[in-house]
Amino acid sequence: MQTNDKPASSADKMEKIVSLCKRRGFVFPGSEIYGGLQGFYDFGPLGVEMKNNLKQLWWQWMTREHENIVGLDGAIITNPKVWEASGHVKSFVDPLVECKKCHHRFKADDILVEKCPDCYGELTEPRIYNILVPTELGVIEGDKTRSYLRGEACQTIYLDYKNVLSSTRGLKIPFGICQIGKAFRNEVTPGNFLFRQREFEQWDLQWFCHESEMDKWFEFWKNERMNWYKSIFTHPENLGFYEHEKLAHYAKKAFDIEYTASPVGKEMEGIHWRGDWDLSNHAKFSGEDLSYFDAEKNEKFIPQIVETSGGVDRTFLFLMLDAYTEEEDRIVLKLNYKIAPYQVAVFPLLANKPELVAKAREIYNNLKKEFNVAWDERGNIGKRYYSQDEIGTPFCVTVDFETLEDKMVTVRNRDTMQQERVEINELKKYLFNSLKF
Ligand code: GAP
Repeated sequence: MQTNDKPASSADKMEKIVSLCKRRGFVFPGSEIYGGLQGFYDFGPLGVEMKNNLKQLWWQWMTREHENIVGLDGAIITNPKVWEASGHVKSFVDPLVECKKCHHRFKADDILVEKCPDCYGELTEPRIYNILVPTELGVIEGDKTRSYLRGEACQTIYLDYKNVLSSTRGLKIPFGICQIGKAFRNEVTPGNFLFRQREFEQWDLQWFCHESEMDKWFEFWKNERMNWYKSIFTHPENLGFYEHEKLAHYAKKAFDIEYTASPVGKEMEGIHWRGDWDLSNHAKFSGEDLSYFDAEKNEKFIPQIVETSGGVDRTFLFLMLDAYTEEEDRIVLKLNYKIAPYQVAVFPLLANKPELVAKAREIYNNLKKEFNVAWDERGNIGKRYYSQDEIGTPFCVTVDFETLEDKMVTVRNRDTMQQERVEINELKKYLFNSLKF
């Protein structure tokens, strides 16, 4: 059984996570050989497995467990008018002050004194900076069209909502359209690892409903999303709500789901009451009729929207922080089984015994059709366990000499470190049951 768990020790835990992420291939700094680029990261071999598992869980929960939610994968670059209609060209701004001496910029809201916090130089008056990332389309110099990389993933959902309705049989209000996709922001202060990046991924649900039901659905999605996050975190008690008083230009009401034990910022997902802001503006700017006709009630109206908009990368970071545990003799990532990069590792007890390697390979090949399986034959068994614990692999299977006689393997549990003998024929069933697949 587990003993000697050390409690979370915030700031240095973050450093340890950053280091583990690089060392074990979860996350690498972007463009590192060129000195990096602030606010950009690459997901390595284990990181991409974990991120894909996470996104798949979210996707399945949204689309399979809610009958009236369908998916979308919209373009990153849209007609630039989209960002005028959405209010981002005008309102997606940060007032900044700049130091006249070292030219460092700071959010005006964060600065309480008149001198630069870095060099004590004099600061300029606040100036407005837009955080949309512009891009140019076209090949002829002087004849290029300016557009933007999307500043929030959800806008394509509004643009396509009529296409979704007309192409999906039986979809009626209330219904949802969900999407996982990249967003880009010229963040003034990128930093804190994955927390504030310039390129990041969002998972969004836009829930279309009648005005009279907004309150009900806002409460429903607030609780539904919180329960989902609780189901994937190792310490669900570290999750909480925060109600915003200062609202984004599109929102009438906003709550965050927070990871309260975070040593950096806490916001993980926003639950926003967007009302008819987006659809009304897109109708106005495009000239298209974006109203919905309810045939049963004979009523035409612009749907109201409740949005749940979360950060995939922030969730990834918070899950790592939450799972990271130092015990007396090991570091263990107590990740949810379904999210861990590998579900199972297979080892031959000794790498120089061909009969053990052959049997272990047979088991590995058989399991890999259903699970993501790690193979390790280096070092001794203790080192292999240590290595798998550190990346969160829930089960390790060892083939030893007895296996050749009794057709059983040793299965060791990551969290309890207990070992049991399991028949090879029963191994898949054992893993399915234990992993709760
Ligand atoms: N569509 C609404 C929207 O984009 P937001 O609160 O600006 O709302 C939603 O963003 C989520 O996206 C945040 O809760 C956060 O998890 C994630 N996010 C926002 N900016 C981010 C950044 N610079 N780096 C990483 N994640 C970010």
